[in-house]
Amino acid sequence: MCGIVGYVGGRPCRDLLVAGLEKLEYRGYDSAGISLLQDGHIDSVHAVGNLGNLRAAVGIGDEGAGAGGVAVAAPPATTGLAHTRWATHGRVTEENAHPHGDCSGDIQIVLNGIVENHTELRAELRAEDHDFSSETDAEIVAHLIERHYDGDLTLAVRRCFAELRGHYAFAAMHADEAGTLVAARQECPLVVGLGESETFVASAIPAFLAETRRALTIENGEIVTITPRGATVTDADGNPVERHHEQITWDAEAAEKGGYETFMRKEIDEQPDAVAETIADRLPSRDRVDLSELELAPDFVAGMRRIVIVACGTSYHAGLVGRYAIEQWARVPVEMDIASEYRYRDPVVGSDDLVIGITQSGETADTLAAMRLARERGATVLALTNIVGSQATRDADAVLFTRAGLEIGVAATKTFTCQVAAMYLLGLWIAQQRGTIAADRLAELIAELKAMPNRVQETLSAVSEQVETVARAEHEGRFFLYLGRNIGLPVCLEGALKMKEISYIPSDAYAAGEMKHGPIALLDESTPVVCVATDSPTLDKMLSNMEEVRARGADVISVATAGSGRTADASDLTIEVPRTDWVLQPLVAILPLQLLAYHVARMKGLNVDQPRNLAKTVTVE
Ligand code: AGP
Repeated sequence: MCGIVGYVGGRPCRDLLVAGLEKLEYRGYDSAGISLLQDGHIDSVHAVGNLGNLRAAVGIGDEGAGAGGVAVAAPPATTGLAHTRWATHGRVTEENAHPHGDCSGDIQIVLNGIVENHTELRAELRAEDHDFSSETDAEIVAHLIERHYDGDLTLAVRRCFAELRGHYAFAAMHADEAGTLVAARQECPLVVGLGESETFVASAIPAFLAETRRALTIENGEIVTITPRGATVTDADGNPVERHHEQITWDAEAAEKGGYETFMRKEIDEQPDAVAETIADRLPSRDRVDLSELELAPDFVAGMRRIVIVACGTSYHAGLVGRYAIEQWARVPVEMDIASEYRYRDPVVGSDDLVIGITQSGETADTLAAMRLARERGATVLALTNIVGSQATRDADAVLFTRAGLEIGVAATKTFTCQVAAMYLLGLWIAQQRGTIAADRLAELIAELKAMPNRVQETLSAVSEQVETVARAEHEGRFFLYLGRNIGLPVCLEGALKMKEISYIPSDAYAAGEMKHGPIALLDESTPVVCVATDSPTLDKMLSNMEEVRARGADVISVATAGSGRTADASDLTIEVPRTDWVLQPLVAILPLQLLAYHVARMKGLNVDQPRNLAKTVTVE
């Protein structure tokens, strides 16, 4: 998730823009940049690494030294754009940092999100002799505006907006239009800050909260033109839209969390966007999955004998979901192993094997060691990670990035759902490459996967209150048991891990069919038993296991597929999640379990962002 900040007004804006970027650091970034418009001339500076590098590059702190960065032209710039980049398309380089310009440099843009149809637009623009200076999808926008520019930036942005497909928000400026910025939103957040004779545009309120508390939220499909006098909002066709600002009352700490009480709660709510970005341009059409970024040889994919997934903690649970999906669709045998075990069990692995190392941080020592061991033994290693430039990307032959943005809460939430979404992409792509899935089934699953960001949003909105009620009733519990079957089991394992991590309540997850072989002895009237009973080929079996549990007086809280109506008789309480293909259900079934652990921990007054004894990244062995 990149960070956008723009300013028009009467004050010199260089420092204002950089200060705005600092307020967006929590979004995570690997490079940054700024473009300042003064006297009809635009100066742009990019810097890789932290904002200190950008500050140094623009000369903040060595006024008068005259060395480096943007010379302080007189009068100083009062129109500008700035950006923090979280790389998705293109390496972490100065060239790929934003703002991006058109062929002349007179048009500058900053973008957060993904332009899905960037490949075909780049080909078109190239054919019109546009020169590109970066590897990014975002630079397309500057050239598209250039294609349409005829002295009116708002009109050019509107025409450009009509040609784009994807999940993004961007802001643009033109050297000939000082005092004007034009921005547009398609899914990714965009807000305007209304000051006294000055106006800000940003991807999040903290960027300008120190300057103004009057914020205007730009809705999906809207375009906004800002000047020092204020903001004019239209729909995509140019029709005016009435929009009223809200007064922001957040304190500094809340501001850092984007108005949320904790990072974990914010990250739970960011899952629809994060999943959307992770699948975005990997599903370019109704009937094809595009993972050409992997650069895995087609012969290898067609002939590989086995897949081995190694990971730790939550990433291991995402791998377990992936196993079900890959075996279902691609019919390749998948072995799972905890990385800290795999690396010491002298595994049998070789050149016909694909070993997938799943690690959101890309720095977990055991997973890295397991990947290296497999690679030394001739296997092809694929890293599934959330961090560009992390060690895992260097210890692998191919890399698939989740695009969850920076996750600050120690308890993984959005990185889990993005890993699961990425495993679905991988499962479908391998099936497509190996011809093990019928075209209509593939198209059906692609349509379902494309709908998942909305399903995730629906679930979060629908279940939160119900889950809070369950938490109120159960937060003093001494033990939680989670039961599931088939693809519901990894969801239970992840739910139990969340409960353990942040509420410190002993919790166990079990294959429901295993209950009668021992764990059933743990049950009594006070035991809350969370059952993942979404529609699947094993639902009947699951229902009879729930009956067994209920017969021992335990509280059965079930997560079920909306409209199935099959669990009510076997549950004390049913939490419904939207219907999807049964293999995709984990992406929504996990959400009530994340929220349950969250609310229980909050009700116990615990620090959910930084639980005791835990680190976000485990780099020790
Ligand atoms: C999950 O909430 C935990 N933070 C932990 O189990 C984590 O998943 C594990 O340490 C693996 O981390 P990684 O994905 O960065 O490798």
